[in-house]
Amino acid sequence: MYATSLGDDGAELRPLEVWHAGELLAHIDRGREFIGRHVGLPDVVPDLDGARAWLRSYADKRGADAGSVHGIWLDGRLVGGLLFRVWDTPSGVCEAGCWLEPAAAGRGLVTRGMRVLLDWAFEERGMHRVEWHVSSANEPSIGVARRLGMSREGVLRENYPHRGVRTSTEIWAVLAPEWRTARARAPHSGR
Ligand SMILES: CC(C)(COP(=O)(O)OP(=O)(O)OC[C@H]1O[C@@H](n2cnc3c(N)ncnc32)[C@H](O)[C@@H]1OP(=O)(O)O)[C@@H](O)C(=O)NCCC(=O)NCCS
Repeated sequence: MYATSLGDDGAELRPLEVWHAGELLAHIDRGREFIGRHVGLPDVVPDLDGARAWLRSYADKRGADAGSVHGIWLDGRLVGGLLFRVWDTPSGVCEAGCWLEPAAAGRGLVTRGMRVLLDWAFEERGMHRVEWHVSSANEPSIGVARRLGMSREGVLRENYPHRGVRTSTEIWAVLAPEWRTARARAPHSGR
């Protein structure tokens, strides 16, 4: 229910909710090492209670209109997710993020899903700016930001201690008029 098709390969975007905790844990376990290279999600989902607590925190955000999390299902299996970690309606600024298990990478699932969410953020919710915070070592995620038409605005040097190593965070963003111009030029751009 409430699924948005992402193409003709069976990929779907759906709300990711507390009752998906078991599915989320199984998915994270399939991708724990891959997903955890640059982001802390696997560390906050160590077990079923952790999965439930993390999903509940996003249910609370959704209730307060302060963020949301969405799952990507491929042939009925949860393989990744997209989120608005930060959502601030008064300022029109939000921050998006993503992850996939390794078997689902390289098929454009995140790019396709984020396009749906960016259309919604800009056109239905009237947001003005969507940010993407990414480790400067995370080439695949920087590739997603580029494909979404984002610009690299700067770098927070060594601001994020991740698993004992200080990493730098690049800030990428796309503004509503830039998104509209790009969509008008290439409304169904595959890549
Ligand atoms: C970041 C991450 C989600 C990127 O995954 P990804 O598969 O490269 O991203 P997409 O789903 O958008 O797929 C893009 C790839 O599919 C290809 N592709 C195939 N069909 C496509 C389509 N219809 N549209 C767009 N790209 C398509 C692209 O060419 C690209 O491959 P390439 O990089 O070899 O050129 C993944 O590396 C990941 O989960 N990493 C761990 C967690 C993480 O770091 N999250 C980001 C935190 S900022």
